[in-house]
Amino acid sequence: MHHFRYVGHNLQCESVDLAEVARLYGTPTYVYSAGTIADNYTRLKKSLDGVDAHICYAMKANSTLAILRHLANLGAAFDVVSGGELRRVLAAGADVSTSVFAGVGKTEEEIALALKEKIYAFHVESEPEMARINHVAGKAGVRAPIAIRVNPDVDAHTHAKITTGKSDNKFGVPLKVAPLAYEAAAKYPNLQIKGIQIHLGSQLTDVGPFVEAIKKLTPLILDLKTKYGLEYFSSGGGMGVVYREALASGATEWWDAQSAAQRPLTPEAYGAALVPLLKPLGVKVLLEPGRFLVGNAGVLLSRVEYLKRGQNKNFLIVDAAMNDLVRPAMYDAYHEIVPLHRDTSRPALVADVVGPVCESGDCFAKDRQLQQVGEGEYVAVLSAGAYGFTMASRYNSRPLAAEVLVKGSIYELIRPRETFEVMIAGERVPPFLK
Ligand code: LLP
Repeated sequence: MHHFRYVGHNLQCESVDLAEVARLYGTPTYVYSAGTIADNYTRLKKSLDGVDAHICYAMKANSTLAILRHLANLGAAFDVVSGGELRRVLAAGADVSTSVFAGVGKTEEEIALALKEKIYAFHVESEPEMARINHVAGKAGVRAPIAIRVNPDVDAHTHAKITTGKSDNKFGVPLKVAPLAYEAAAKYPNLQIKGIQIHLGSQLTDVGPFVEAIKKLTPLILDLKTKYGLEYFSSGGGMGVVYREALASGATEWWDAQSAAQRPLTPEAYGAALVPLLKPLGVKVLLEPGRFLVGNAGVLLSRVEYLKRGQNKNFLIVDAAMNDLVRPAMYDAYHEIVPLHRDTSRPALVADVVGPVCESGDCFAKDRQLQQVGEGEYVAVLSAGAYGFTMASRYNSRPLAAEVLVKGSIYELIRPRETFEVMIAGERVPPFLK
């Protein structure tokens, strides 16, 4: 399930002692497990045996070059949402011709770049975008492969900020008007209809919404197949991961102990429910998982700076902050926090775990029960592999964190901590201020 566990008193990633990594590279540092990513990828792929399934990793979850290379080696293509992401795929030495380009605001430059690099398809979100892609393709003298993102109006029962498949979201074309949108696409001389796409939202823990959406879309998919020779259906991303009891969820016994109703969405459950619906469609199936592949494969290491004992509350002040991992501040997301050195003989501590940034929102956990830890000791924020580093900022002029990749007993720095010089390198004071 994942490869983070205590061996004796010490938290390890695969066979690497995380405190050693923290001492060597400092903190805050993201550490990723290559084995966990590989297992997640293989499990998901296997769960769709019987359909012609292709995984386009939604790299917005984690786009560090080494992670992209690792996933490309495993056989993944990519779901990109900007020219920058597309260029990262190229920089990682991976192939763009099996990847897709999503997003509601593609610019002319981005479209031209994707065409030049022979993108597999654009996921089109609106009629004006369709017209623009046709225009740019015409100028380049090529036909642009497209799929229309259809909004199936299905409730994904997830956080409001990460639900996307309801009709009041900005995403996609409503199901009712989708046939007309395809008619319009067919009339454009420089477009080639390739597929149809949906994405319901993120961190879905139940397969129900996927089933509902695919059932709703099936007549349309079959119709488009007859009319336009539709090549593929993309079911989007959205498979959730375990955030509570994140450490325990690495053990097989933990999974076995969960009742079927409480068991988080597993690839096996996803496949079992979806394969019978997807197979009869007789088209290629694309999946765009982000979080599922990398979420539980990463932790954020942080050092305890102070334990501030207040009148009503304790504050554990650590050296990671909302600029490094914004999910708790932005979505009230829960992340488990554990000491790198576990000592069950120590008393418990109930504290808010906070960073040094000057905002009350800079809080990783409220009233969290932890083992007593003191200055200079390390903690790990778990399940931080997805939407961690990619959403980081330099707020409070804090440099971007370091990143390390572990494989078995070896590990490598895949991004050094940003230096102050690099942080300000592009800035200029104009002559009129001198
Ligand atoms: N495909 C499309 C079209 C998407 O918009 C997304 C995510 C994905 C695939 C991948 O979804 P995933 O498999 O990772 O759930 N920053 C938020 C999540 C935002 C997701 C945006 N779209 C968070 O930290 O929870």
